[in-house]
Formats: sequence, C-alpha cells, structure tokens
Amino acid sequence: MKSILAVTSSPKSEGSVSNALVDRFTQNWSDITVNAEITRRDVGANPLPHLDEATIGAIYTPDDARSDAQRDLLALSDAVVEELEAADVIVIGAPMHNFAITSALKTWIDHAARVGRTFRYTAEGPEGQLKGKKVFVLTARGGNYGEGSPAQAMDHQTPYLKTVLGFLGLTDVTFIHAEGVAQGHDGIDAAVQMIAAAMPADLAA
Ligand SMILES: Cc1cc2nc3c(=O)[nH]c(=O)nc-3n(C[C@H](O)[C@H](O)[C@H](O)COP(=O)(O)O)c2cc1C
Repeated sequence: MKSILAVTSSPKSEGSVSNALVDRFTQNWSDITVNAEITRRDVGANPLPHLDEATIGAIYTPDDARSDAQRDLLALSDAVVEELEAADVIVIGAPMHNFAITSALKTWIDHAARVGRTFRYTAEGPEGQLKGKKVFVLTARGGNYGEGSPAQAMDHQTPYLKTVLGFLGLTDVTFIHAEGVAQGHDGIDAAVQMIAAAMPADLAA
C-alpha cells in the first residue's frame, strides 16, 4: 500500500478550486485502493507561522547542539518533514496568487526545506533527500498561462515549484492546471479529466 500526503493551501473555506481538485485526486485514489492511507496538511485553513529569527537559528544549529527551546521551535517543521518523508505520493493544491503561490504554501515550503534533512550540501553541490516519490501539483488560476499563451511568461508558480521541489529531491512532478477559472468551468473540467488520466496504474500496488 502506498501512502498519500495531501497538501492544500487555499485560504477559502468554501469554493476553492484547488481544494476541490485535491479532494478529487484523493477520492480517485480511495476508489482504487483498499485502506487508503491519506495524510492531510491544510495550510490554507491552518497556516504555519513564518520562519522567525529564532527558528532559523534552530534550523542552522547542528542537531546535537540544539537546546530544548530550539527543539520546541522546530516541532512544526519536524512534523512537516516527517509527513513528507513518510509519503510515497504527494499531492499539492496550489492556487495562483499574484502570479505565484499563496504565502501559506510558501511558508510550508520554508518549513520543509531543512538543511541536513531534506537537502544537504555535498562536494558536487546540493543534494535533495526526498527521493523516489511521485508529486502531483494541482493548480488553479483565474487566467490562462498555458503553452504558447501570451501570459505564459507571467507564470511564476510552475517554474518556482519545479525548482524548489527538485532541490528537495522531488523530481518526478506532474503539473495539472485548472486554467481560466475566472472565465468558466471548462478549465476545471479539463483538470478533473487529467487527474483521472494521471492516476498511476501502480498507485495502489
Ligand atoms: C489574492 C488573489 C490573487 C490572485 N492572483 C491571480 C493571478 O495572479 N493570476 C490569476 O490568473 N489568477 C489570480 N487569482 C485568481 C485565483 O488564481 C483563482 O481564484 C483560483 O481559483 C484560486 O484558487 P482557489 O480557488 O483554490 O483558492 C488570484 C486570486 C486571489 C484571491
């Protein structure tokens, strides 16, 4: 059995497109597997705190030198990292806000990027540690940013997520975009179809 980590990051309590797409993904997954193991992290409804000076200090203090207070400061980040480490499949709901991701998703990434844990520096350069996992990013955007569209260069969501996930070792990433949600339902319907088609055959194995 494979386990899924479902991360949602819309501030909307109702009517979120990206939350609905993540729900659809986990529903499809539940339909094809017995005892589906799904962990949910909703940073839209329950945002993590921004990294402050003390927390950054704790991150960069070697583990064996950390004080109890520093360990306490890292408890949330530890939980985020443990969820990532335990998952075989990670599905991320990503609303587009101001041509990029929501601040809630960015803060989750800040807690997930842990030197010596989710990435480390080697003589050959940085090496991501979250290897061998499949990632699906389900975006929702009011406009259209698809291949060849005039606004494609304004999409800072896709390249940023590709870069930072890759930095953590998450290189097997599939993006599914609900485009143009401000103009109608077609983009959402297309994304729902793509989610069904992207469900890996070996997911339930
Ligand atoms: C604060 C804010 C900023 C937004 N910025 C953009 C944007 O830069 N480009 C765009 O196409 N849509 C933008 N939108 C529209 C959202 O991408 C769209 O409503 C999408 O459905 C959000 O995902 P959600 O429904 O899961 O929250 C913005 C919406 C909000 C609330």
